[in-house]
Amino acid sequence: METKTGRILIFGGSFDPPHKMHIKALTDAAKLVRPDLILAVPSWQSPFKYGHWASYEQRESLLKKAFSDFKFRSILRISRFEAERKRKTYTWQLIRYLKNKHPEHEFFFLMGSDLIASFKKWKRPDYILANCRIVIAPRENFRAGKDKRFISLKKVYPDFSSSSAREKILSGDFSLLPPAVKREIISKDIYFSKTAMRISKVMSEERFSHTLAVCSLACALAERHGADSKKALLAALLHDCAKEWPLEKQIRKASLLFKDRDFRALAGKAPGVIHQYAGAAEAFFNFSVKDKEVLSAISGHSCGKKNPSKLSKILETADFASPDRKHPLSEKIRKKAFSSLENAFLDMRKAKKEYLRKKGLEILPYE
Ligand SMILES: [Fe+2]
Ligand SMILES: [Fe+2]
Repeated sequence: METKTGRILIFGGSFDPPHKMHIKALTDAAKLVRPDLILAVPSWQSPFKYGHWASYEQRESLLKKAFSDFKFRSILRISRFEAERKRKTYTWQLIRYLKNKHPEHEFFFLMGSDLIASFKKWKRPDYILANCRIVIAPRENFRAGKDKRFISLKKVYPDFSSSSAREKILSGDFSLLPPAVKREIISKDIYFSKTAMRISKVMSEERFSHTLAVCSLACALAERHGADSKKALLAALLHDCAKEWPLEKQIRKASLLFKDRDFRALAGKAPGVIHQYAGAAEAFFNFSVKDKEVLSAISGHSCGKKNPSKLSKILETADFASPDRKHPLSEKIRKKAFSSLENAFLDMRKAKKEYLRKKGLEILPYE
């Protein structure tokens, strides 16, 4: 019978960002497995896809910070396997590579119980199970089965994810993160944490909470529809930054970026839309946003563009349909936006038009 001489515990993920529960589950798994080597494997970010908010290098750097106080730090390595392949990598490919590299080792793969349901749909699950044991970090309501290839940790791990950690970061709540990760995120402005802090200081609590609601929805829609979630986040964060300014200040600021426009004339017809131009000007001059697509989404989010980009559609729809909105159609449009952005966008424009007609205001769009 074959004798294995060592154990390797593998922990893969997007780590976007790495949070306390990653460290906790990995510590408990290491206590159980007693490995000789722990490999944390951040997933690769394709330059053509927008699945992650932070770049590979940023996530790798955050991961190093996250493990600065890790109990098993001396046997931990961060694997650049996926980054070196520079393409989508499946777990079975990682395991095949490690098996060739460490033929004498036994392999363990740590995953949350939330992934168990989809495991059978992974590529070559039988290969994975034939070559390594799965260590499960149970979430609430998980019931371990009898299959010996799965080992369950004894504790239950709270159901929080990197996406909820990112949302909290925007509202200045870093409680889900190890302190060194928090410091790195703030100092490098990863996830626009600095921008969010500045924004929160220049608007009312109510406006900021609307801004955060739009951020969450815009990012979720961007991820769902293959748009750049970082651009969606930045546009959503800044879209209403000038909304609460006095009209005169809005006109002055907007005129600095949109020099040929007559904002005084527009103020007579539709004063409520000037904040979108002032917001884009503020983003450009005071937040150093030079990305034309982001600026264009901000400068059209209220009155709408005639030929909106996907990002503009996402921001305008998210702004209308964010959960804090009271409009009777907001919820319906929000749900529809996940199945069809196009249809939700058309419904949203129709609802806006109707609203303006009832109020006797100018009909969209101006752009
Ligand atoms: Fe607005
Ligand atoms: Fe808004």
